[in-house]
Formats: sequence, C-alpha cells, structure tokens
Amino acid sequence: MNQKDAAKDKYVAQRRLSSQWHERAKTVFPSEGATHFARIFNPFRPYITHASGINKWDLDGNKYIDYVLGHGALLLGHNHKDIVEAVQEQVARGVLYGENHTPEVEWAELIQEMMPGAEKIMFFPCGNEANMMAVRLARVHTGRSKILRFEKHYHGWSDELASPAETGVNQDQVTIIPQNDLGRLEEELSSKQYAVLFTEAGGAFLGGRTPLEPDFVKLIPTITRKYGTLWTLDEVVTGLRFAPGGWQSIVGIKPDLTTLGKCIGGGLSAGALVGRTEIFEPLKPGGVSGRQVMHGGTWNANPLTAAAGIAACKLLKSGEPQIKAAESASYFRQEGNKLLKEKGISGAFYGKSSIVYLYLGPVDYFTSDDTLPPVKDLDKLADPAMMPVFNRLLLHLLQRGVSNLIGSIYIFSYLHTKKDLDHTLCALSDALQNMLAEGAFKS
Ligand SMILES: Cc1ncc(COP(=O)(O)O)c(C=O)c1O
Repeated sequence: MNQKDAAKDKYVAQRRLSSQWHERAKTVFPSEGATHFARIFNPFRPYITHASGINKWDLDGNKYIDYVLGHGALLLGHNHKDIVEAVQEQVARGVLYGENHTPEVEWAELIQEMMPGAEKIMFFPCGNEANMMAVRLARVHTGRSKILRFEKHYHGWSDELASPAETGVNQDQVTIIPQNDLGRLEEELSSKQYAVLFTEAGGAFLGGRTPLEPDFVKLIPTITRKYGTLWTLDEVVTGLRFAPGGWQSIVGIKPDLTTLGKCIGGGLSAGALVGRTEIFEPLKPGGVSGRQVMHGGTWNANPLTAAAGIAACKLLKSGEPQIKAAESASYFRQEGNKLLKEKGISGAFYGKSSIVYLYLGPVDYFTSDDTLPPVKDLDKLADPAMMPVFNRLLLHLLQRGVSNLIGSIYIFSYLHTKKDLDHTLCALSDALQNMLAEGAFKS
C-alpha cells in the first residue's frame, strides 16, 4: 500500500459514520452524493452535525476550524447570539406570512444605509436569482437583449450566467471576453447591442481569485454609459464582507445595478438587487406601458430571513467585523507564505480583504504586498491542472481539523483568533510536509 492510500484510508477510518451516510447520499444525490459542485470530493467531505463560532463537528466527533463559513455567508461565524435570538423570536411569531411585514422594510433600510447606491431594493431567495432579475431589468431598460461577461467570472448557474463549459445552457445572447482588456471591452460595447455588462466584484471567483485591475474597473462606468449598456456589479460574495458599502466603496465606483447575497442574510438564504430608481420603474404596476416586469417568489424577503438579515446588518454596519476578519486573513497570508518558502514549495497565498487564495506553481515575482497575485499571467491562478494537488491538500487538512473550500480558498470570520490561525498554520505545515514526502509537488 502506498502512502497516498494510507492517508486516505486513515481519513475514512476516522469517519466511519460519515462514510456510511455518504453511501446513502450517493443513492439519492446525482453528483457523487454532494448537493453543490464545490462539495464533491473523493472520498467525501465530512457530514456535519453542528457548528459554533468558527468550529464545526462531524458525525464521528471530529472537530474542524471552518474556512468555508457557509460559502462566505458567515462573516459573523456560526450561530451568532444576536442572529439566533432574532430567528428564534421570529419562528415563534411565524415564518411565512405571505403578506407585507415590517422586518422586510427594516432590513432593506439597513442595506440602504450601508450602500448609498441602493435607491431601490428587491429581495430574492439567493444571489443567483438576483442576477437573473438584473438581466431582465437591463433588457427592459435598454431595449437590447445581449449580455457581456468576463471569462471565469461566476454569477450562479442560470442559463445565461452559467459557465460556458456547462452543457444544456442557452447562451445565444451572451459574449464572454477576457477581463482587464479595455480595447476588447470597448470594441464589444461600441456595437451597442448589449443590455448589460456583468462583473464579479474584486475579480473572477469569490472576490477576486483572478483580480480585476483597479484602473480598468474605474473606466467601466464611463465606457458602459457611453454606449448605453447597464453595468451590474455582482457583490454576492463581497457585499458587506469587504466593507459595509461593498467592494465598490473601497474602489470608489458606482455601478448601475449591484447584486448581493450571502452575508446580507446572516446565514439564511438571501439575495438582493439594488440600484438606481429609474431602472426599477417596470416593476410599478401599470407604470410603464409595455414594459411591465413581474416579480414573484414565495420566499422573497420571508420574515425569518429578514429577521436574521436585520441582526446581521446591525452587526456589520460598523465595519469592525470586516476589519478584524481582514486582519486575520492578512496574518494568515504572511505566515502561510513564510511556510511555503521554508519548505521550498513554489506558490503563494494572496488575496484582498477576508478571503485568501492559494496558488501553487511557478512564481514570477514576489513583492512585499501579498495581496497581489504572484504571477503576471492571471489565467494561471485558476489553472484546473492545480486541482488534483488542492484535492490532496484538502484531504490532509481535513484530517488535521481544517476545513476550507476546494483545498485552496480560506474564508475568514471576525471570530478566528490568533490561536486558531496558528493551529491552522501548524496543520498546513504538517499537511505540506506529508505532501512533499508523497512527491505531490513534482510535475
Ligand atoms: C459572485 C457570485 N455570484 C452569484 C452567486 C450565486 O449566489 P447563490 O449561491 O446565493 O445563488 C455566487 C455563489 O457563490 C457567487 O459567488
């Protein structure tokens, strides 16, 4: 038996109950027993029974420091006292009135206070649906149908916003171009066929694994306005997480529409579309003849999510949890990079705010600023060839009580302490050492 199998066998042996439930899951869920593509993992991700703060525990009693944090929704950690209280109180009063209620208004007002561009707000059950409505409203507003997007930017899985690599999607009206290419952007927009340009805030994938250049981004509003295209900034990940006013408040830009999700719901499922009043006019019954848009959705702004959202927004409004989480991420990046150097592993931890990405491969340059990507060719940062190594790293990390996203993305809460981070760095060091012994970094 080689060492790779030994590590996997040990992982499975210490997760007997998870293993049994995974077998059951495979018979009901089509994606290797997983309910999200990011949770597909060989042999399996652990089956979690409960969570608290930045920890979660599996069926077999294994404890993890959590860097998945609800796919980024839990900047405030699991089960924050204020959110638990708000949800418990609301459950007792009823979870779905199918009527107007005051929490939905209060929640919207809180978001409005944080995001000055949010003249009007619409709520949805998730970010995916907020993006779908952004497409619809942009089409009605401009009278055009085409959508312009950037390569690798993720906006959910709806037909026109899914990855072009997916099968079964209809993307006849979609053009995808490289990010940071001003000439190409202007060339496409000048055709005046596009209703909307979609951009992930920060850059492609979870706040900017492949970052957008700030100078490029700052030119987007001028150029989209010039050619009559609306700009939708997808802040589903970064909204409220990077700052109360989102990534746009840090960069100093104002999109026409912004989509939100994750953090705004305090851990319950939520999405929102915010922007200029005039773009939302077609929602008014009989307001704009021939340009009516209907907004249905059983779960829109349901009282339970609104209660959790209000509690979360009140905590996030000060901006302090965001600063604390970003400080932890910064410490982790610096120490993680020291570890890679010590071990002679080519790669880097990088990223802005409270999300850290690991790149493994040849490094073009190191600067003292580890928020910057370590290579000039940004395509390399999301190279699928790195996935087997990240999967192996994830196995070793989970075995050592660290849970992250796809082996390479660490999402921080304001609750991670220095002790948690040092524990994680120890686990990482040990995991990398094992992988060196396995020859995992040889190409
Ligand atoms: C940038 C971005 N936009 C949209 C979505 C879709 O949001 P949801 O999963 O809430 O539908 C995601 C999900 O991860 C995302 O990362």
